[in-house]
Amino acid sequence: MKLIRTKTYEELSTLCADLIADVVSSKPDCVLGLATGSSPIGTYDELVRRYEKGELDFSKVRSVNLDEYVGLDGTHEQSYRYFMDTHLFNRVNIDKKNTYVPNGLVDDPAAHGAWYDENIVALGGIDLQLLGIGLDGHIGFNEPADHFVAATHQETLDPSTIEANARFFASKEEVPTSAITMGMKSIMQARSIVLIASGKKKEEILLRAFEGDVTPAVPASILQLHPNVTVILSE
Ligand code: F6R
Repeated sequence: MKLIRTKTYEELSTLCADLIADVVSSKPDCVLGLATGSSPIGTYDELVRRYEKGELDFSKVRSVNLDEYVGLDGTHEQSYRYFMDTHLFNRVNIDKKNTYVPNGLVDDPAAHGAWYDENIVALGGIDLQLLGIGLDGHIGFNEPADHFVAATHQETLDPSTIEANARFFASKEEVPTSAITMGMKSIMQARSIVLIASGKKKEEILLRAFEGDVTPAVPASILQLHPNVTVILSE
């Protein structure tokens, strides 16, 4: 694992955008694994800036997102499809039909999950997977548990995750109680992984994830077993 510490969130975002831009430039039809939440917003803004300057071309890029809330339509302002559209996809020349976000409205999440994983393989696998980390150690919405779940699946959100994400909703009661998340197999099969985290509040969980035991009680700890992980941490 490579650990990079930056002073500011802006520096973190620039470095993260550098890593993504390298992949897009060297492999124009790459598959990017993308995340939502507060952490990647600066990275997406930086990628948009580079696109606007003519430095990046997303026309052949394919993307797969980590997760989506169950019950939210892609037009809902708090859905992760909406997040991706507004923070990145609508602002660059990516072809929307090449952007995949789990569908939170499916009747059969297990079948959808199986399709999602097969589609990632059919696309050729993820070249770079971007991750944030939850205060409880989740990656995607793989919450602490007694075992790792391999497949893309429906996950009940931890009360602490609902609490943390309530800031985006009018009230805590409006936060969906479950999500469809990419499972550990597709995440771990990514050729490279970049995890970004900022702020003091993430420090303790990062220590547990990267210096403690590999355990499903701290889902991000599984990344210790991946051969190509970069963690960018801003103070
Ligand atoms: C989002 C996701 C989550 C977030 C995590 C951190 O797609 O998969 O694992 O990365 O909850 O969220 P922020 O960045 O808001 O602290």
